[in-house]
Amino acid sequence: MIKTVKPATGLNGTIQLPPDKSISHRSALFAAISDGTSVIENYSPAADPASTLHCLRQLGVSVKRHNSKVTIHGVGRDGFMNPSEPLDCGNSGTTMRLLTGILAGAGVDAYLIGDESLSSRTMKRIIEPLRMMGASISAQNDEFAPIKLRSHNGINPIRYTLPIASAQLKSCVLLAGLWGDKPTEVVEQSASRDHTERLLNLNSEPYGQSKVIQSSRKNSIPDQSYMIPGDVSAAAFWMVGAAIHSNSRIRLKNVGMNPSRIGILYVLQQMGADIKISHERMQGREPVVDMEIASSDLKAIKLDPKLIPNCIDELPILMVAFCFADGRSIISGAEELRHKETDRLSAMFEILTKAGVNATLLPDGIEIDGDPDFKPLAAEQNTYHDHRMAMAAAVLATLSERESKIQDAECTAISYPGFWSDLEKVSG
Ligand code: S3P
Repeated sequence: MIKTVKPATGLNGTIQLPPDKSISHRSALFAAISDGTSVIENYSPAADPASTLHCLRQLGVSVKRHNSKVTIHGVGRDGFMNPSEPLDCGNSGTTMRLLTGILAGAGVDAYLIGDESLSSRTMKRIIEPLRMMGASISAQNDEFAPIKLRSHNGINPIRYTLPIASAQLKSCVLLAGLWGDKPTEVVEQSASRDHTERLLNLNSEPYGQSKVIQSSRKNSIPDQSYMIPGDVSAAAFWMVGAAIHSNSRIRLKNVGMNPSRIGILYVLQQMGADIKISHERMQGREPVVDMEIASSDLKAIKLDPKLIPNCIDELPILMVAFCFADGRSIISGAEELRHKETDRLSAMFEILTKAGVNATLLPDGIEIDGDPDFKPLAAEQNTYHDHRMAMAAAVLATLSERESKIQDAECTAISYPGFWSDLEKVSG
């Protein structure tokens, strides 16, 4: 589907954000391996978290869904059925990487598949540590889905230093570690999102400049009620949208504010964005706030590479903010962007240059010459079926003087099914 995006004179209104995707996946997976019944409120309606529920059903887990409420009867650590059909993870890297960790730990015979994009993303990063733990795992060219898992003789605990800042990799190893009699230790040098550690209450201790997180069979898996906060990664599109438009004010309710996810907030604040935070509170184990963002005069910034794991999914829309900031902004140390649903560095470079932005692509980042008076050229943008490309291109297009077109616009349903109607609503 090609979507036409009209120019907007400002973005105004209140947005009910979609529920957090990362926390939705985890709540369902952890509920499935608990021994009791969990109720998840405000479960994401997006396609990726639906892939997780679908796979759990194939593994013999009772999953009942009524609108945004999901009830899961846990089967315990050792109650999965060997699925008779391949487990289809769709487009979802989190489903594939976390579920592989769980099934490798449990010693389930399974075959995990994904769509074309997911099948081209490397799984080597999880295969290597899982093999060290004794899992029987193979993959296409030893790197890509389909992934084949076979039963094994039990999980050996390992001490594993993460070679990259990846919450999916960290979670995969820690989840497999839940089947080990002794603790598996994951050393994390650069902090990535910590929802797994929080929701499972895993022991985490400082280790020099790093952190060591442990998991073992001794960790009880709580059956609990979950209330999923609004997705800060979805909020990012409106934070940037309101900041770069004149005459704009957007209110966001119930925004997840996990400290390991809010690089977008730090960066926009450093750039001078007008953001007000209110009603700070805890929702279960996750902090949430309400937020109001208004039109802002933005300054260019050289992004501190240490912040990248904190805003990895928000970098595409931050690049859009950089186009309207005064001066040259630079992102470096973000090579991981090339390994997402598409190569997000190349795809964003293409989107920005088509819109007339003066940008330079780096092997691990991008340089963008911003101008507060910039008027993007109307363009037909290729999204490479990547939800975050589509939403970033759409927000950029609202600043143009003529209509733009966004290809494969339906891909926003991967994380944010209501994106197009919300865009229409705030565009007025
Ligand atoms: C996620 C971790 C990140 C992020 C992805 C969701 C998660 O991926 O980009 O959208 O829920 O753990 P990496 O672990 O590959 O950095």
